[in-house]
Amino acid sequence: VLKMTDLDLSGQRVLIREDLNVPVKHGKVSSDARLRACLPTIKAARDAGAKVMLMSHLGRPTEGEPAEEFSLAPVAEHLGQLLGRPVTLIKEYLDASLDLADGEVVLLENVRFNVGEKGDDETLSRQYAELCDIFVMDAFGTAHRAQASTHGVARFAPQACAGPLLAAELDALKKALATPKRPMVAIVGGSKVSTKLDVLNALSEKCDQLIVGGGIANTFIAAAGYNVGKSLHEADLVGQAKELMTRVEIPLPTDVVVATEFSEQASAVVKPVDQVGDDEMILDIGPDTAGRLAGLLKDAGTILWNGPVGVFEIDQFGHGTEALSRAIAESNGFSIAGGGDTLAAIDKYGISDRVSYISTGGGAFLEYVEGKTLPAVKALEDAAAR
Ligand code: 3PG
Repeated sequence: VLKMTDLDLSGQRVLIREDLNVPVKHGKVSSDARLRACLPTIKAARDAGAKVMLMSHLGRPTEGEPAEEFSLAPVAEHLGQLLGRPVTLIKEYLDASLDLADGEVVLLENVRFNVGEKGDDETLSRQYAELCDIFVMDAFGTAHRAQASTHGVARFAPQACAGPLLAAELDALKKALATPKRPMVAIVGGSKVSTKLDVLNALSEKCDQLIVGGGIANTFIAAAGYNVGKSLHEADLVGQAKELMTRVEIPLPTDVVVATEFSEQASAVVKPVDQVGDDEMILDIGPDTAGRLAGLLKDAGTILWNGPVGVFEIDQFGHGTEALSRAIAESNGFSIAGGGDTLAAIDKYGISDRVSYISTGGGAFLEYVEGKTLPAVKALEDAAAR
């Protein structure tokens, strides 16, 4: 695909789709990791003398109903601070002729307020395309959506290219998945096997060891024939879990952390995995297991991480996730992490500088790992072929 860095942007009207879908609390951006990730793209376009129009969605508003709670106003404010110059929020931009100065940066209001955005409507896609000379797709986190601002617009814009952030995300994922240095170890945590079955299947073909955590691990523990008591697990997926265990090495916990209630006050007890009581639930991996898995991670050539291995939001159930975080930080292998919970764990344990690549994608990260085609990337390929 064509890249933004290959084009002369000077004096051009450049429309950049970013994923500025960040948490907003009381009218303020509460976590700006995604905003910081796209700053280099915005600065490069600005410094090249482009007339920069940023666009993004925020949340999941009802189309045609521009509710205040989904306005990008707090994002414009925050971006202005990060860029050291105010970023104007433009509310009316369809069919409008925006008159920007070279090097000016504005933000278009939430694209999901526009009727036809989610349906990838052609009329709306053409309206976006008319705003610009060059469309830059940089929103990796939304690249799995075939919507007017991520997909349709690329069909009609005079030129469509990949932004630096999107390109970096794809390069990092390719490095981890297409040509992994061995051994490759993946960690898939989270509550349900059912929502991660495709990712588990895809990784079972690629990695040397597949570490499972959280409710997912409990289903595998049940599949290995142990009692999981009251633990979150999916009895109907035990068969699938057994089948996966025949295809790839899945190192199961030998000890676990249990409690009889799920709360901040709950007392945590370490037990061998074969001694979980009927009234207990497994909320973390135990210290022996954490040590063994940390050893695998330290020696790994490639690590792919999606999802914590315990309820790390509650400190007494976070030791497993912390130990694996430290092992990833100490590993010399190439490590890539993605997903909201994973990023929260990386923040909590302060290892962000020690992970080789932190993806801004949640759903998009998983779909890429599953081997699915990302529609927004396909649209850029098609545009390049035209
Ligand atoms: C995300 O946060 O995963 C992306 O911004 C996509 O948001 P969506 O799931 O509402 O399309």
